[in-house]
Amino acid sequence: MTILRKEGREKARGAAFYVDDIAFSNLLHGTTVRSSIARGCISGISYLPGVPWDEFTIVTSKDIPGKNCIAHILHDQPCLADGLINHPEEPVVLLAHPDRHVLEKARRLVQIETKELPAVFTIEDSLARKQVIWGADNLFKSLLIEKGNVDSVWAGADRIIEGEYSTGAQEQLYLEPNGMVAKADNLSGVTVWGSMQCPFYVHHALVTALGLQADKVRVIQTETGGGFGGKEDYPSVIATHAALLSLKAGKPVKMIYDRAEDLAATTKRHPSRTRHKTAVSKSGKLLGMEVDFAIDGGAYATISSVVLSRGAIHAAGPYLCPNVRIRGHAVATNSPPNGAFRGFGAPQSIFALERHMDTIAAELGIPPEELRRRNFLHQGDQTATGQVLREKPDMEGLLEKALNAAGYHEKRKAFAEANANPETRVKKGIGFSAFMHGAGFTGSGEKMLASVAAVQATAAGRIEVLASSTEIGQGANTVFAQIVSHALGIPSDWVDVVRPDTSIVPNSGPTVASRTTMIVGKLVENAALGLREVLRQSGRLGLSHTPSDFQQALSTYVREVGPLRSDSTYKQPSHIEWDDMNYRGDAYGTFAWAVYVAEVSVDTVTYETKVDHFVAAQEVGKVIHPMLAAGQIEGGVTQGIGFAIYEEVVNRSGRMANNRLTNYIIPTSMDTPRIQVIFAENPYAHGPQGAKGIGELPLDGAAPAILNAVSFATGAPIHQIPMTPEHLLRALHGAKPEGQQL
Ligand code: MOS
Repeated sequence: MTILRKEGREKARGAAFYVDDIAFSNLLHGTTVRSSIARGCISGISYLPGVPWDEFTIVTSKDIPGKNCIAHILHDQPCLADGLINHPEEPVVLLAHPDRHVLEKARRLVQIETKELPAVFTIEDSLARKQVIWGADNLFKSLLIEKGNVDSVWAGADRIIEGEYSTGAQEQLYLEPNGMVAKADNLSGVTVWGSMQCPFYVHHALVTALGLQADKVRVIQTETGGGFGGKEDYPSVIATHAALLSLKAGKPVKMIYDRAEDLAATTKRHPSRTRHKTAVSKSGKLLGMEVDFAIDGGAYATISSVVLSRGAIHAAGPYLCPNVRIRGHAVATNSPPNGAFRGFGAPQSIFALERHMDTIAAELGIPPEELRRRNFLHQGDQTATGQVLREKPDMEGLLEKALNAAGYHEKRKAFAEANANPETRVKKGIGFSAFMHGAGFTGSGEKMLASVAAVQATAAGRIEVLASSTEIGQGANTVFAQIVSHALGIPSDWVDVVRPDTSIVPNSGPTVASRTTMIVGKLVENAALGLREVLRQSGRLGLSHTPSDFQQALSTYVREVGPLRSDSTYKQPSHIEWDDMNYRGDAYGTFAWAVYVAEVSVDTVTYETKVDHFVAAQEVGKVIHPMLAAGQIEGGVTQGIGFAIYEEVVNRSGRMANNRLTNYIIPTSMDTPRIQVIFAENPYAHGPQGAKGIGELPLDGAAPAILNAVSFATGAPIHQIPMTPEHLLRALHGAKPEGQQL
């Protein structure tokens, strides 16, 4: 029997409570006045006549009681610009008023006078330091991963194959835009409600900007209509803005972005550029890989350094290569800061590698699947960071399953024949990608986070799960309930997941990095087992029990002894060792492994590409909820289709020129093929019931599989995405692609 989604009924009935449903009788609405230039100095702010300005609450950088920054890894991003502008959507002034329409009129009457400075908008211009716009060198982070000695292989290699690949920015496009409500006063502190992935990130940002004690700040997650990474760091900005307005007004303030503002101002996937230089033997053995990976972080550091880490670590893929050098750079440009989006750097570097592997195969005259087979990682092998694989990946098995399910060999032959006919207008292609994705924070990240989750008993004999991990549509609540149900031998209906509220739940870390099921789920499982142990020790529960025995033991315990709660703190499995200085060691506790196959049609008159069929085969440890898991894969593949051929952020001097859903095109259900999801299961010892993370995985493999198929169909050497019809036309006719600033 399928276990129903915990919050599904409320969502389906329209009864789920979102941030915009919050009402206060004295509620004000807040809005943001932004810069319009990419880089410069503010020389003055004037409030033009046309609205009754005395009715407004107005906040500038002068009104910030704490530190004027949005606290993430660094403190470089101001909460409100104080003299300097570094991107065209930089917040300068905040306004609040009871009437939204008057507010919007007022926003247009604030004039920010500026003196413009030269700006940079591309990775190459930033690397060349055409202007130094951040720090001493425009670099948020540089890193180097080295294995063996790549310099020793070039002379003796049969072939050296080079390529350069790039990927565009991408919007997460959650259904519900970013929004927050804040209620603040000097006495009791601040409470913020909103749509978010990471309540304790928001808490940290509020404490820093408002200069408050931690216990004076309370962050409560409302039902969240999707995140995909887009609500990892940006909610800290909007929460701080709403709190500043509320503090000054002495009234609750609601700030909800409309779609246009959300598209223009909030974070996107980092645009990337990857250079590959690969030494191979005639038989297709990888001898040496040199990779130069650069991502565009936008104007402030936010979380670009960790996006860079994940992207660089995944850049060598699921292949064994004795000599590897990967250089990574996260650079500053004068665009709004880029941030997290499912995959977190890995979709960018894996696109480059998997296109490059097909290029190598073509140059050597080896079938692409055979080239992969000759280089796959096996148990005991070392990855690029020197991580020894303890588990047993079965990439050959996944490759065979995926290619067979897609009818790859027959189609490859049939399509090649049909495409050779000059009469064929619609060319068909089939291609695949092979990849892996590490779950959880990179390196020692989980150890430093030291997350805590808890379970507690209620007097009615139910179990509550306490964690700051958020339900954002991915099914976290349902899976947590299932994990408790399995650990305690009770129905999952007896388990409730408490809404994340920083004044109630322990800090189980952010809802990111495919870590919720695998890392936090394991803490929930351990906490549940700890609670069972207390009941056993107290003599109220035997070694074997029925669900009703358990419920009875639980309620008698609560009645006779008192509250019963069990906490579990993350302890790093002893096999994980990571050297962050040298990027050596166990980058992730484990990896999920996958092979994706895409079948496409390319119209050689309109240059439109359509994905006709998709097979996604992966090994993700134990699958806890097959339907939710398949939904994760289908959704991720669909976002990958958008990344590959539809979604283009047109960056004009740092500003998104197409910030409407009429011109930022995403795949609809009509553009989405049947997606066949195949799970292989190889339980991971440190995951709950053996589960690994899956949230980000599907974003990694879709785009390269699709573009490998497009390349097969057209013979075009495709090096960049999104491959929209305009770009494909240019790729096929040799003209230099333009329009997208990468
Ligand atoms: Mo995620 S892309 O780690 O919010």
